[in-house]
Amino acid sequence: MNAGVLKRCPVTNGSLILVNTAHPYRGAAAPDTLVAVGPETDGVFMDRCAAALLERLMQDIHGWSRIAAVSGWRSAKEQREIWESSLRENGEAFTREYVALPGCSEHETGLAIDLGLRQEHLDFIRPAFPYEGICRTFREKAAQYGFILRYPAGKEHITGIAQEPWHFRYVGVPHAEIIENLGITLEEYLELLQRRSAAREPFSFQAGAFTFTIAYLPSGEQDVTLPETESCLVSGDNEGGRILTAWKGRED
Ligand code: DAL
Ligand code: ZN
Repeated sequence: MNAGVLKRCPVTNGSLILVNTAHPYRGAAAPDTLVAVGPETDGVFMDRCAAALLERLMQDIHGWSRIAAVSGWRSAKEQREIWESSLRENGEAFTREYVALPGCSEHETGLAIDLGLRQEHLDFIRPAFPYEGICRTFREKAAQYGFILRYPAGKEHITGIAQEPWHFRYVGVPHAEIIENLGITLEEYLELLQRRSAAREPFSFQAGAFTFTIAYLPSGEQDVTLPETESCLVSGDNEGGRILTAWKGRED
């Protein structure tokens, strides 16, 4: 890479951060980065960028008339309250399956959203989000807008969470499409990027007129130098490195 521009990017920030029981959220979603999503006025918030893409997706499919935003950003205190009330009401086994440990929930990042089919009673912990109708349309389009189904069936041993058809996580474009095409989880994707970069074979992905190159940078430094000549973005992984996503159009 040639001379570039220095950019601050803590490993705890960015759309690709991994948050699970083994990787507590070490950042803090600042209030001025959170915005309201959905037509309701009772305040479901998300990270600004994730919210913008969710709104575009919902406009595309006219989704808000039939889909409700059930739970978005949660403070660490709110996650603890949900955990404790679920322990009381549902018991430990259920709670460990469906509620992330306080401090280890993606909801604390502002990058996750629980969606439910609008109906009279919406279950807060397990909202209905069927595999048909408008929910199916949402799922079919989600990756194009940067969202993945974060807790799929059959991957419980990796995510540590039971299948959650309602929980979507913003990871950005083109990562969501790659994850979906490969049928893997965010945990597996980050491992794949690490392996490929260690072997000096950065991951390449073609989407329309763009070729993306995705590399893992195993550095604990606060700053990263981005190449001046390319369009690129950097995200922390909340472990000890960063993911550099660079792209070129056909005419570049
Ligand atoms: N339901 C998900 C796992 C959470 O509590 O973050
Ligand atoms: Zn959720």
